[in-house]
Amino acid sequence: MRIQTKTTPATTETSDAVVFLLHAEHKVSALGAVFRDLNAEEFAGKLGQLCLVHTQGKLAAPRALLVGLGPRKDLTPPKLRRAVVMATRRLREVGVSRAAFDAGDAERAGVVAEAAVAAHYDFDEFKPSKAPPRTKLALVTIHVSPGEARAAATAVERGRVIGETVNWTKALANQPGNVIYPAELGRRALALARELRGRLRCRVLDKRALERGGFGGLLAVGSGSAREPQLIVLEYRGGRAGQKPFAVVGKAITFDSGGICIKPGDKMEEMKWDKCGGCAVLGIMKAAALLRLPVNLLGVVAAAENMPSATSYRPGDIVTTRSGKTIEVINTDAEGRVILSDALAFACEQKPEAIVDFATLTGACVVALGHNIGGLMGNDAALCKRIERASEATGERVWELPLEDEFRDMVKSDVATVKNSAGRYAGTLTGAAFLQAFVAEGVPWAHLDIAGPAWVSDAKPHHEKGATAFGVRLMIEMLSSKA
Ligand code: BES
Ligand code: MN
Ligand code: ZN
Repeated sequence: MRIQTKTTPATTETSDAVVFLLHAEHKVSALGAVFRDLNAEEFAGKLGQLCLVHTQGKLAAPRALLVGLGPRKDLTPPKLRRAVVMATRRLREVGVSRAAFDAGDAERAGVVAEAAVAAHYDFDEFKPSKAPPRTKLALVTIHVSPGEARAAATAVERGRVIGETVNWTKALANQPGNVIYPAELGRRALALARELRGRLRCRVLDKRALERGGFGGLLAVGSGSAREPQLIVLEYRGGRAGQKPFAVVGKAITFDSGGICIKPGDKMEEMKWDKCGGCAVLGIMKAAALLRLPVNLLGVVAAAENMPSATSYRPGDIVTTRSGKTIEVINTDAEGRVILSDALAFACEQKPEAIVDFATLTGACVVALGHNIGGLMGNDAALCKRIERASEATGERVWELPLEDEFRDMVKSDVATVKNSAGRYAGTLTGAAFLQAFVAEGVPWAHLDIAGPAWVSDAKPHHEKGATAFGVRLMIEMLSSKA
């Protein structure tokens, strides 16, 4: 799909369809005679409302799509994004190939570009049939007012890169466990670094290297699988030399069966998405490098497959981790925190400015916050505030949960430094408290439990079934704005 910006009025555009983004207070009839007879049920400018009309020669384009944005005072970039995603999906359904969007200013143009690109993702590479349910647009023209041309070109390019990286991240996260296993994820990360040669560095520690390095947590979780665990380390240096890196750490369980504490079969197939945190980290590194963000970044992805077998780790095991701290295994299904213990300790060794980790860590977080909101916990109010601000700007919703001392007490073990499960209550907070034991004193750290928003189980008008790439837009926004 090609994207261009123009400063001519969208009404004069001879695309297959012209798209008008309209507030509730907009007089639709003012757009042209073709809209005169629309009644309020057909279109009232409600947020997300779509109305497709044939223009019968009354406009240059044969079709017009009206897109409701709701009341002007309530509109935010995330709402605009969602409306444009839905509009683009509609255009694809009706077979439009060239569309013109009437965006207005540069900020909106950027959102339109990002959303139009993101609306093109389909997880269809395993569908042998040749007829896709939706066509792809060949050309999107984004119209802005003349004074906005330069700023719009920049915003559109940024939006395009972010949209494409979100799609890349989804495509990676949607791969099933038989296709993406830890070593394969490592190869994809190496291939990414090769593609961005000079901007991104990558090394992958395999099982032997993990053994030499004392990564006992990652090795324990990976021990039940025929696929060996891996630690993926990425570096991007866009900031000043000598400036401490900002670290992003991700959980990549390429399939979580639960291990010896095996999960029930119902919905177990969804556990291919237990790698979404790690995939988000790869997406963040890719987007930062493509956008040449002026920051130094360290990406650490702990990858393992959690399987039951004769070589699995077991309840009661005591595991010595990279940091020297020990873990009493209570439940092999609480494996995310066990692999992250090593990834966080490794990140801390690189003396980062701060760490944010992404993990589909607890079902309890989905019970607490549902499917649209990630749980935010941390040891640093300023870092959490930065994440919350980026969350509002992007619509990738987070909600801070209270990580207090009592939860640290709950994960203490009689026989080891910590135990990996403290029972049913406050499951998300004891998960975070466990992770905190592996974050060095004085390092600002935030944990995002993305078990809810990492994927969509049932297709929505604004999102297909599958991975959402949650965290990529959030972190790119945060790293792009001043602390
Ligand atoms: N990957 C799961 C968490 C999960 C569950 C994410 C459902 C998304 C949907 C994680 O490894 C897990 O199994 N956690 C356990 C922890 C418990 C054993 C302490 C859980 O949430 O039940
Ligand atoms: Mn698990
Ligand atoms: Zn898991």
